[in-house]
Amino acid sequence: MSPDLYADAEFYDQLHDGYRDDLGFYRGLAEDFGGPVLELGAGSGRVTLALALAGFEVVAVEPAAAMQARGAARLATAGVADRAMWLDADARTLALERRFPLVIAPFHMLMHLATLDDQDAALSAARAHVAPGGAFATDVYVPRFGPVGVVRVEPAWAGLDGDLSTWQVVDPVAQTVVTEHRLDRTRADGTVHRRSATLRQRFFHRFELERALRAAGFGRVRTFGGFDRGPVTEGASTWAYLAQP
Ligand SMILES: C[S@@+](CC[C@H](N)C(=O)[O-])C[C@H]1O[C@@H](n2cnc3c(N)ncnc32)[C@H](O)[C@@H]1O
Repeated sequence: MSPDLYADAEFYDQLHDGYRDDLGFYRGLAEDFGGPVLELGAGSGRVTLALALAGFEVVAVEPAAAMQARGAARLATAGVADRAMWLDADARTLALERRFPLVIAPFHMLMHLATLDDQDAALSAARAHVAPGGAFATDVYVPRFGPVGVVRVEPAWAGLDGDLSTWQVVDPVAQTVVTEHRLDRTRADGTVHRRSATLRQRFFHRFELERALRAAGFGRVRTFGGFDRGPVTEGASTWAYLAQP
């Protein structure tokens, strides 16, 4: 298998910088609940920047050094470095001596928690950092997978400097999915340069995550069928959760 995607933050950004679908959702919640915002798994600052540009202070928790470095640089380039504080910490063991009107774990962050203990620890920590009247928000993708065990060409991933393909292994019993991304560039001499990285996730089912949020102390959990805060429908590709104590 190729290296972990979060060790190659530049590749992560190549793949995901253009993803904007969730920005309005998280910015809108920051407007509703107020800042500062605690972001768990802030990565390379895609959502962090959107919040900072909207005027919110963000405490950005990110354990992968390469991702955090790119995130800090991204905000510095945009002139809003002073709106974010970056913490090399783990969502499962986070214990800050402050609470936040809004805690978020965007872009499938919870799918990196491989065991029930990990999930419970992170959700309890999230709950512990929500201020009275505040909320926790997150999103996961609906686990519908394309053909597995074959190389899939990904033409929809437009704007990349090369040809992207993915190779996916889904274990429906363990509820895990391993995705290898491969970006191939053909050089002038006819040889192909390949950049590849692996993403490991554990997927959720809708009510499983609702139940986990309740167990962590969130008494009011709303699940949306997308980032427009609409109802869950059969065709939804994302479940976005808003949980309040
Ligand atoms: C899919 S990325 C999302 C990054 C960013 N929020 C975005 O929207 O582009 C998930 C991030 O969660 C981080 N992560 C994984 N496990 C974590 C943990 N236990 N605690 C905090 N962050 C974690 C990863 O390093 C990665 O940067």
